[in-house]
Amino acid sequence: MTNILKADSKNIRKAARLIKKGLTVAFPTETVYGLGADAFNPEAVVRIFRIKNRPEFFPLIVHISEPGQARRLFRSVSREAEMLMERFWPGPLTIVLEKADRVPDIVTSGNPTVGVRMPDHPVALELIRQSGTPLAAPSANRSGSLSPTSAEEVYEELGEEAGLILDGGRTGAGIESTVLSLAEKPVILRSGRITQEAIEEVIGKVMQGPGSPARIKTRTPFVFLAPDTLGSSHERDGLLAFKPWPDYGSFRAVEVLSRRGDPEEAAGNLFPMIGKLDRMGLEKIYVEKIPETGLGQAMMQRLKRLAAGV
Ligand code: TXA
Ligand code: MG
Repeated sequence: MTNILKADSKNIRKAARLIKKGLTVAFPTETVYGLGADAFNPEAVVRIFRIKNRPEFFPLIVHISEPGQARRLFRSVSREAEMLMERFWPGPLTIVLEKADRVPDIVTSGNPTVGVRMPDHPVALELIRQSGTPLAAPSANRSGSLSPTSAEEVYEELGEEAGLILDGGRTGAGIESTVLSLAEKPVILRSGRITQEAIEEVIGKVMQGPGSPARIKTRTPFVFLAPDTLGSSHERDGLLAFKPWPDYGSFRAVEVLSRRGDPEEAAGNLFPMIGKLDRMGLEKIYVEKIPETGLGQAMMQRLKRLAAGV
C-alpha cells in the first residue's frame, strides 16, 4: 500500500480536494513530476520546502491551466511574453516577469519576479482546473537529486511525505522546462526542453544566463569521457553513451541515450538512464559529451552539474 494512485478523474478530484485543504500532491507534467501546492496559500507552499529538504528558500514555478491566468500572477504582460505564450503554451517554457502583489513572497523566495508556465499534460491541467488555483510546484525530488520522470521514482525520493502521488506513467520530455526571464533583457536562466533557437525565432536574440551552479548528487561519481579513458580497463565502471558505439570494450554496464543519435530521444532517456546506472553499485560512470546545440545545450547543462558532484 503506497500513496501512489492512478491518475483517473476520480483520483484527480481527490487530489484537488487535498490541494484545497493546503496539502501537497505530486503530479505528472510533460517534463518531469512536480510536487504541487496552492500557490496562493503560503502555509501550503512552506510544506513543499520542508518535504524537499531544501535548507534555503528558492523560487518556485507557478503552474496554470489557462494562459489568461498569467495576468493574475504577473504585474503586466509584455508583448514578447504574449508572443511566447501563444507559440509555446501549453508547453515546457517558464516565463519570468515582475510579479503581481497578490503572489505570496514565499513562492518567489522574496524575488520581485515570478516564473509561470502552462504544462502540456492532461493530468496536470485537470488537477489545476479542479483545484481552482494555480499550483506552485518544483520537481518532485529531494534537493540535489535528479528530477523524477515516473510515479515510482517520486515515491523512492519522497515516500509518503509527498502526500498523494498521481500516477500518469512515464513523462515524455524527460528534461525540465526552459526558464526564460523577460523582466529585463531576455535571458535564459535555465536551458531546457525549448531551445534557445526556437525562442529566438519568436522574439529575436536572447542571452544565456550563467546556468545553475547547484550540484546534482548521485551515489556513483559521474565523469566525462576523456581521450585516455578508453585505454584502461573498466570492469567496474558504467558508460552513458549518447549514441551507439561499435565496441564498448570492458565497461560493465552501458546505457545508450539514443539508438539513432537523436537529441529528442536522448532527452527523454537522460534521467531514467542516469538513475538506472546509479543504482547498479558501479565504481564510476563515464559520460559521453553531447554536441551543445539545440536540446544538447540543456542536456549538457545537467550533465555538467552531475560531473561537478565528483
Ligand atoms: O519542467 C519543469 O520546470 C518542472 C515541472 C514540475 O514543471 N519544474 C521544475 O521546478 O523543474 P524546479 O523548482 O525544480 O526548478 C525551477 C527553476 C529553478 O532553477 C529556479 O531557480 C527557477 O526555475 N525559477 C523559478 N522562478 C524563478 C524566478 N522568479 N526567478 C528566477 N528563477 C526562477
Ligand atoms: Mg528541480
